[in-house]
Amino acid sequence: MATLADDSVIHDSTPRLLHLLLLAELFVHSSPRPVHISPHCGMFKSMIHQVDTLSNIFKTLHDLPDGERMHFEDVEFRLGGLPHIQHTAADFNSLKLNESLPQLFLYTRSFGLHVDWLKTAKENVSLSSQSAEGASSHLLQLSSLLNASLHQIGEEVPQSPSPSLPVVSTAFDVLQFSVEISEQLQVFCKWSKRVLVLLRPSRCPRR
Ligand SMILES: *[C@@H]1O[C@H](CO)[C@@H](O)[C@H](O)[C@H]1NC(C)=O
Ligand SMILES: *[C@@H]1O[C@H](CO)[C@@H](O)[C@H](O)[C@H]1NC(C)=O
Ligand SMILES: *[C@@H]1O[C@H](CO)[C@@H](O)[C@H](O)[C@H]1NC(C)=O
Repeated sequence: MATLADDSVIHDSTPRLLHLLLLAELFVHSSPRPVHISPHCGMFKSMIHQVDTLSNIFKTLHDLPDGERMHFEDVEFRLGGLPHIQHTAADFNSLKLNESLPQLFLYTRSFGLHVDWLKTAKENVSLSSQSAEGASSHLLQLSSLLNASLHQIGEEVPQSPSPSLPVVSTAFDVLQFSVEISEQLQVFCKWSKRVLVLLRPSRCPRR
């Protein structure tokens, strides 16, 4: 008799116990837990910000009204050291922090050197160098952030080769080079934004 009674007690209370457990579970999940934010989050946020700012600047790098832009279409690639980024969708599926960050660093340094050179070339032919100066400063900040990130993950900071850059003497030449640089810089911005967003630790706040 006693066992029967015990049994019925257990049977009766089981659903209630389950309810309590479910409630407890619910409470645990909805209670504010400390959000763990990786120390890399701030770094990625700053790098993405630099790329976004650069994307807005490259549009003004060649300082040409849209109507005159057509004279510079089909610009030949004359700057051999300028990164020509080519990628396939598959490249984005196999990104590795230890491979993509050094690559990004090298590209950033190379664009930085080209933009600095462009700035001098513009000054030499009395063209406004303001946009080149702006781009240069953001590229410099981006490369410092990448340098710091590489140190953070214990990767070696790659040595960037110095590109051989021509001496330019005419304003027309300078404009052609600035169209070439800004076109490649545009590709670089799109590529690096995507790489940074994909490499960003998944726990980082999205905004
Ligand atoms: C990067 O790390 C992966 C493992 O996460 C390793 O297989 C690969 O060889 C590393 N690449 C370099 C260039 O060190
Ligand atoms: C700008 O002018 C200086 C002095 O004439 C020259 O040494 C330098 O190579 C020129 N820079 C470019 C990019 O043409
Ligand atoms: C790269 O980072 C290291 C360590 O943070 C620092 O000592 C070095 O000066 C940095 N180099 C550049 C070029 O920013």
